[in-house]
Amino acid sequence: MSWFLTLLAVLGVVQAAVIVPGATWTDTSGNVIQAHGGGFLKVGSTFYWFGEDKTLNSALFRAVSCYTSTDLVSWSRQNDALTPISGTMISTSNIVERPKVLFNTNNQEYVMWFHSDSSNYGAAMVGVATAKTPCGPYTYKGSFQPLGAQSRDMGLFQDDDGTAYLLYASDNNQNFKVSRLDANYYNVTQQASVLSGSTLESPGIIKKNGAYYLFASHTTGWDPNPNKFFKATSLSGPWSAQADIAPQATRTYFSQNAFDMPLGSNGIYMGDRWRPSLLGSSRYIWYPLSWTSGSPQIVAADVWSVNIAAGTYTVATGTSYEAENGALSGSSQILTGSGFSGGRAAGWLGNGGSVTINNVQGVGRDQWVALYYANGDSTWRNTTVSVNGGPSVMVDQPNTGNGQTVLSVPVKLNLRNGANSITFSNGQSNYAADLDKIIVYTAN
Ligand SMILES: *[C@@H]1O[C@H](CO)[C@@H](O)[C@H](O)[C@H]1NC(C)=O
Ligand SMILES: *[C@@H]1O[C@H](CO)[C@@H](O)[C@H](O)[C@H]1NC(C)=O
Repeated sequence: MSWFLTLLAVLGVVQAAVIVPGATWTDTSGNVIQAHGGGFLKVGSTFYWFGEDKTLNSALFRAVSCYTSTDLVSWSRQNDALTPISGTMISTSNIVERPKVLFNTNNQEYVMWFHSDSSNYGAAMVGVATAKTPCGPYTYKGSFQPLGAQSRDMGLFQDDDGTAYLLYASDNNQNFKVSRLDANYYNVTQQASVLSGSTLESPGIIKKNGAYYLFASHTTGWDPNPNKFFKATSLSGPWSAQADIAPQATRTYFSQNAFDMPLGSNGIYMGDRWRPSLLGSSRYIWYPLSWTSGSPQIVAADVWSVNIAAGTYTVATGTSYEAENGALSGSSQILTGSGFSGGRAAGWLGNGGSVTINNVQGVGRDQWVALYYANGDSTWRNTTVSVNGGPSVMVDQPNTGNGQTVLSVPVKLNLRNGANSITFSNGQSNYAADLDKIIVYTAN
């Protein structure tokens, strides 16, 4: 059997089986997945991923894309689910964000809801569209303000009895509301609860053991903030006080919630790492959402896999190499700080400083390597990475907010079997982030 797998691998047939948050995710045709602010629906054994196509790097509407997968890893792009109609609220000069789809059993119909807005976000509406098949294309029904009040960031939740709810930021994003849909899922009929003054965005709900867990970010535009969860035993509330799902300083590992999917006794946090200067390059940040502690917490896995049938996830383990143990050259220096693993990192990289980590053990193929870094300020940085003196690749380092918060970004490197030398930040005039450590993975 191994010759067969090898043949498939050589032919490029074997799709990656791991989820790597923050990497550039491509579809089965090799194109970058454009499905930001996504919504997910499972029909039979197929997952559908609806999202914003931001190929044009603009916030304006281009298309709601539709992708299919049976394993949440390998995604095939289908026809666009919703496309612009000039002269309507879904023209190419309007905003269509956060598409979410439910199946309505009464009408045997797929119903899509989305944030529908003018280009300055002044209209603050929801839009509704319907189709007889999951990817549609959908027929646009119209846009409106639910119960006559504003709606911006939104999500949908379908309860076990088929009752569905709109989750939405209302009243200038001050009050967050949960309102019940009609039997057709065409309109909102009644407000179930309101979290007054909560300033929440990007909602999702997972129901577990009879309790509703609402996930949402706060309102800092495209910038990340510590996303929260709220718990209630009824969608009418009362909702618990907010609680963290990740260490606050990481700002949810530089991401914003988009969708929350149940997975066995746990779940999956599906977020966006927005890049406003290059929206189409915004990355997807999906992590296991573990209920092991009794309340949902993100498991910050660099590389992980999911077993859909078993409803479980597996976090890959790797080998760590501390950057401060590498060979520093030029103007680079060792930094100390309690935020760094081992209390130290390699700093002043780029602009004449570099570090080479030697004796990095590889297995003789492409491998995921996570770079743990912190930048000294609130700008995006980047670093060159070169293996064994080979050509450099450039890796983006999203801003960490300050100098002591460490985040990781993945890069796929071809490592030889045995010892490798990896050089960071050589030959770049701009400063790279400080490098804390790297973790080398074999799972792929
Ligand atoms: C939606 O519901 C609201 C409130 O019940 C109602 O005023 C409005 O006419 C409904 N819209 C449609 C299209 O039925
Ligand atoms: C790397 O970051 C610098 C800013 O520090 C930026 O000017 C440059 O365009 C970036 N390079 C790439 C290839 O993204």
